Amino acid sequence: MPHPDSPALSSHDAHWWRQAVIYQIYPRSFADSDGDGIGDIPGVTSRLPYLADLGVDAVWLSPFYPSQLADGGYDVADYRDVDPRLGTLDDFDAMVAVAGRLGLKTMVDIVPNHSSDQHVWFQEALAAAPGSAARERYVFRDGRGRDGELPPTDWPSSFGGPAWTRVADGQWYLHLYAPEQPDFNWDNPEVREDFHHTLRFWSDRGVAGFRVDVAHGLAKDLGAPLRDLGEQQSYHPDALPADGSHPLWDRDAVHDIYRGWRQIFDSYDPPRFAVAEAWVRASRRTAYASAGGLGQAFEFDFLGAPLGAVEMHTVIDSALADARRAGATSTWVLSNHDVVRHVSRYALPGDPTKRDLEEWLLTDGRDPAPDLPTGVRRARAAALLMLALPGSAYVYQGEELGLPEVADLDRADLRDPMWVRSGGRVKGRDGCRVPLPWTREGTSFGFGPAGSWLPQPADWGTYAADVQSGDKASFLELYRRALRLRRTLVADETLEWACSPEQTRQGLLHFTRAGGWHTVSNLSDGHVPLPPGEVLLASGPLTGDELPPWTSVWLRTGAASEH
Ligand code: GLC
Repeated sequence: MPHPDSPALSSHDAHWWRQAVIYQIYPRSFADSDGDGIGDIPGVTSRLPYLADLGVDAVWLSPFYPSQLADGGYDVADYRDVDPRLGTLDDFDAMVAVAGRLGLKTMVDIVPNHSSDQHVWFQEALAAAPGSAARERYVFRDGRGRDGELPPTDWPSSFGGPAWTRVADGQWYLHLYAPEQPDFNWDNPEVREDFHHTLRFWSDRGVAGFRVDVAHGLAKDLGAPLRDLGEQQSYHPDALPADGSHPLWDRDAVHDIYRGWRQIFDSYDPPRFAVAEAWVRASRRTAYASAGGLGQAFEFDFLGAPLGAVEMHTVIDSALADARRAGATSTWVLSNHDVVRHVSRYALPGDPTKRDLEEWLLTDGRDPAPDLPTGVRRARAAALLMLALPGSAYVYQGEELGLPEVADLDRADLRDPMWVRSGGRVKGRDGCRVPLPWTREGTSFGFGPAGSWLPQPADWGTYAADVQSGDKASFLELYRRALRLRRTLVADETLEWACSPEQTRQGLLHFTRAGGWHTVSNLSDGHVPLPPGEVLLASGPLTGDELPPWTSVWLRTGAASEH
């Protein structure tokens, strides 16, 4: 049940998302109700009381739609149904209803850049002739070379290899991800209309918001002749032009699409909300997050930055400034289904880059050896830092249990298309998608009555929710206490820094929020003096008047009583 001192957000509060804590569920790995080894919607429903007790405001479900799972469900065969392995639409409705009774909102993932190649439209396109209306819903082109045997352009797929695949009659179709994920042609009004239909379909079922997958794709420069990228092969945000002139990503025209979506969102009470997954330069994020657009955009710099005071200070300042410019609030993310879990990232020496992490996974997580106790300590400190910031925090399933990355999955068990498409150079994202441990003992550690689609490590039970529940020193109880407190503490959206540049250089972050709420993080190996105030919560043991290394604390000073 929602915590008694934290009234559930009113269903008519249009701004519920601005400072919400949103829990990301990767449905296939969350809870399995029927013993097929795959998590499902009734499994989610059965664990909603746990999430309400955790103290989150909303759940966001990664795709649960019918899919052949060429990309973990981000290859959608039908946008308005539930994968039969995961349940039915009735199960979905029941889940939303139970969530609502528990004071939880539901968000779903929308994947508009591409469908699955199993989608009825793509099947129709394959069966239809070049130049037909059915092909116009996707991006089909003739190839280059004497017999059209070369792809139309040099565009790479984000998962490796070319972004074009040839079909039987010789034409090529575009897929910026796996070949099983053909890109839609968003210049086609039928595509736009169909997504409007989908947004209404889920909104009518009581969905409060949407996470928009690859929101910076969609609008492409598809006028003839298509432009080669030449040297500009990277799709990294910093490599994209700042003026929206890339032929594939972050083009200004994408915002016309979202203005149309906004009209639909605003036709509901409360208005539906959306958060963009947009891998764009920070200066370009504002447009996605604006009130006339999707409303909020993921800020991944916090996730990508080293856990250092100087770096975090910079990231926080720029994220807050970006959000302010957009009239939105920022988002804070430490982990999701696409990245190495942060306990493991923080357990590695020398602030590893994405490439370092890929190499580390190829050694099955052995080289360099992770120092897990340090990773845990730093992750706990990062949690209190994140949860004190103004804006929305997105918590990835299992983060509240302090789960590490499963880095030593057998190559034979890997499902991420990155593994095959990179020719074995990138192991991929399966290690953060291993089904959750709910109980110390039992088949699949309480994930379900049988096995689990990805193997769980032998020691997974030590992280189980039932082991941690009630243990004050556990990760889970830290999150529970932090989330409950947060609800009583969060007021306006302002933050004031209380540390000098010199202190920050030494590893200290200290900021205050309304009501005398202080957050102090020692992101260094040394001890620092603890500022005065009533200690509300600490990420680790405190020693007298000192804040030990890699520890965050929430304090309250006298102002609280005036608040
Ligand atoms: C997003 C998803 C990722 C998926 C990709 C293609 O980045 O988060 O999991 O592979 O889009 O849909």
